[in-house]
Amino acid sequence: MIAYDTLKPWLFKLQPETAHHVVATLLRSANVYPAAFNGWIEKHFVADEMLNQELFGRIFLNPVGLGAGFDKNATMIRGIQALGFGFTEIGTMTPQPQPGNPKPRMFRHVEEETLQNAMGFNNDGMYKVQQRLKTRYPFTTPIGVNIGKNKTTDERDAIRDYTQLIRGLHMLGDYLVINISSPNTPGLRDLQNEAFISNLFAEAKAITDKPILLKIAPDMTAQQAVDLTSLAVEKGADGIIATNTTVDYSLVAHPESVGGLSGKVLKTKSFEIFDAVAKALYGKTVLVSVGGIDSAEEAYRRIRAGASLVQVYSALVFKGPELIGDINRELVALLQRDGFAKIAQAIGADRT
Ligand SMILES: Cc1cc2nc3c(=O)[nH]c(=O)nc-3n(C[C@H](O)[C@H](O)[C@H](O)COP(=O)(O)O)c2cc1C
Repeated sequence: MIAYDTLKPWLFKLQPETAHHVVATLLRSANVYPAAFNGWIEKHFVADEMLNQELFGRIFLNPVGLGAGFDKNATMIRGIQALGFGFTEIGTMTPQPQPGNPKPRMFRHVEEETLQNAMGFNNDGMYKVQQRLKTRYPFTTPIGVNIGKNKTTDERDAIRDYTQLIRGLHMLGDYLVINISSPNTPGLRDLQNEAFISNLFAEAKAITDKPILLKIAPDMTAQQAVDLTSLAVEKGADGIIATNTTVDYSLVAHPESVGGLSGKVLKTKSFEIFDAVAKALYGKTVLVSVGGIDSAEEAYRRIRAGASLVQVYSALVFKGPELIGDINRELVALLQRDGFAKIAQAIGADRT
């Protein structure tokens, strides 16, 4: 098994998107040679009983999931489990396949342990993903399905894209995520408004009983985030994922002109928005925290603030899969230190 410290210098010599393809090819080989990944599972995948919890009718063996956008087309579900993740979120996918934005569209700010991406929902489209999920779902680790509108779909027709996706995919995942918070599809974030949320959840809840979560952007005031998420929950959302990437380019020394920032520089902003939402909604819905999580301490802070689950993306690139196993093992130690027998007891411990 190659250590990430050995692989990383080579990967970082490549364009970020090329490096992603190299890693994706490796992870996809777990579909063909699953036994070859048993060593990875043993090393990275932590399923300590203290970390187990039931959510959305499924057992989550550990609370650390992979953020959306890494496995847009549901080709790496098995490999992602071998990296240690307790759940994954595929997508964002759109009804029709689309190429995404022109390249280059993924950048590293290495010193700042930050990524900047302007991918624009490049994906194979719903039909192909459906075919793949039919062979994989249900899986040991729960699968979230993150959906978005096609770039060419007029905002006025956006609801049709989302309902089409929900109809086509709700039987093939454990939860669905409405993504209206990516900065890379023009006009998408404008859908973070009362009328759209009300109409969408009214239609969505008539289609499926599967949990539907809303993923929000960090680029709004805490009050706006609370208003928006409270409305979504009132209209039927089963959870909130906070947050997506930020377009606050003042956070890095040399920003590119397109895309959203993720990783270390997003940590504070993402936590602040999450914390405000949790203050209002903890106990009323399921909360998922994502943005700049790069250690067990940070994951635990989000959990104590009210997150049932956390997600990691950028820190995986900078620190490697060892991080995921380490977070989970250290979470067990933190729970023990604080006298909790199960993770459920720690969720929201700082809220009371
Ligand atoms: C290259 C890249 C692509 C992403 N694509 C998506 C996406 O398709 N849908 C989505 O909801 N979030 C997407 N995200 C956002 C992540 O899921 C996550 O919300 C964000 O990166 C913050 O987490 P992090 O700081 O751990 O990276 C993407 C992030 C990156 C870095």
